[in-house]
This record gives sequence, C-alpha cells and structure tokens, in this order.
Amino acid sequence: MPVVVYPGSFNPFTHGHANLVERALNLFDKVIVGIGTSVDKDPDVYLSERIALCRTALEDFGDRVVVKGFNGLLVEFVRANNTRFILRGLRTLTDYDYEFQMLEMNRHLDPEIEYVLLPTASQWSFLSATRVREIASLGGDVSAFVHPAVAAHLAINNQPKSE
Ligand code: PNS
Repeated sequence: MPVVVYPGSFNPFTHGHANLVERALNLFDKVIVGIGTSVDKDPDVYLSERIALCRTALEDFGDRVVVKGFNGLLVEFVRANNTRFILRGLRTLTDYDYEFQMLEMNRHLDPEIEYVLLPTASQWSFLSATRVREIASLGGDVSAFVHPAVAAHLAINNQPKSE
C-alpha cells in the first residue's frame, strides 16, 4: 500500500488530527504528516515547535508515521516524498468548500495527485485548532482536545497579546 501525505498547519495538532492519522494507517503503509504554512493563517507557534509537538503527540504510532515541515508548495512536498496521495479530514460543509478549492488548485498544479478525504470521527467533528488556541489563550482547559505536551505548550506560550 502506498504512502500518503497529511498536510496542515496543525496549530495546534489536536486529537481530531491524531484520529485521522490512526485511521489512515488502515489505508496506507505510511503517513507523512506535512506541517506547512497557510497564507490565511499566521501561525503563532514556530514551525520547529509544531514539528516537535506533533512528533510527541504521534510517538505511539511508531515509524509508520513521519512528521516533516515544509515551506514551499504542497504539491512539491508530495512529489519530493515520492507519493501522489494527499489526505485531508472533512468535518462540515464549510470544510467541504475550503477543501475543494485547495483540491482543484492543487489538481491544476499537478494532475497526477489524488486526494483522499476522510470524514472526521463524529467524536471530534466539532473540534477546531482555532477554538483550542482561543480557549488556551484565555486560560481555559484544553486537555480534552490535545496531547498533554501540546496543552502544556499552549498554557505557557499562548497568552493573550497585549493591546
Ligand atoms: O490546516 P490548514 O491550515 O488548512 O492547512 C493548509 C495547508 C498548510 C495544507 C495549505 O495552506 C498548504 O498546502 N500550504 C502550502 C502552500 C501551498 O501549496 N499553497 C497552495 C494550496 S492550494
């Protein structure tokens, strides 16, 4: 079975993301989690920190899961990893619009690339990294949504910005 790239900002990496990786391992030999940057989102956690936290959150899966960062185009990252499959999770109809726009753009950039869209587990269908960041920045408990190492990092580093 082939290798799949699971790209995202993962700011932060949540239990919803981990669930998708776990289920993708039933379909693919190896999952490469590709942590990139989005022009729409200004990540407040450095790429190197997001990579380290994501590795910690996924360490139980062993060597079938690899975490890497990338700065360029997703299609180039996919090709550099010798695969043509991209995995994304779908929570809601809003996600559907966003995903299809990206999918079609990437398809124009490289028609050989195929997308695998997996519905998010219902348990995590409400979970959003943005809301997790917001809750953490206001001192709320996010331990139900993220790995303990991620929760600890958010508690220290995601303080509200002063005016
Ligand atoms: O979790 P996100 O924020 O929805 O992930 C978005 C991400 C990082 C997958 C996307 O912005 C991306 O692919 N960035 C790399 C640059 C790129 O290829 N942009 C064109 C996308 S159509």
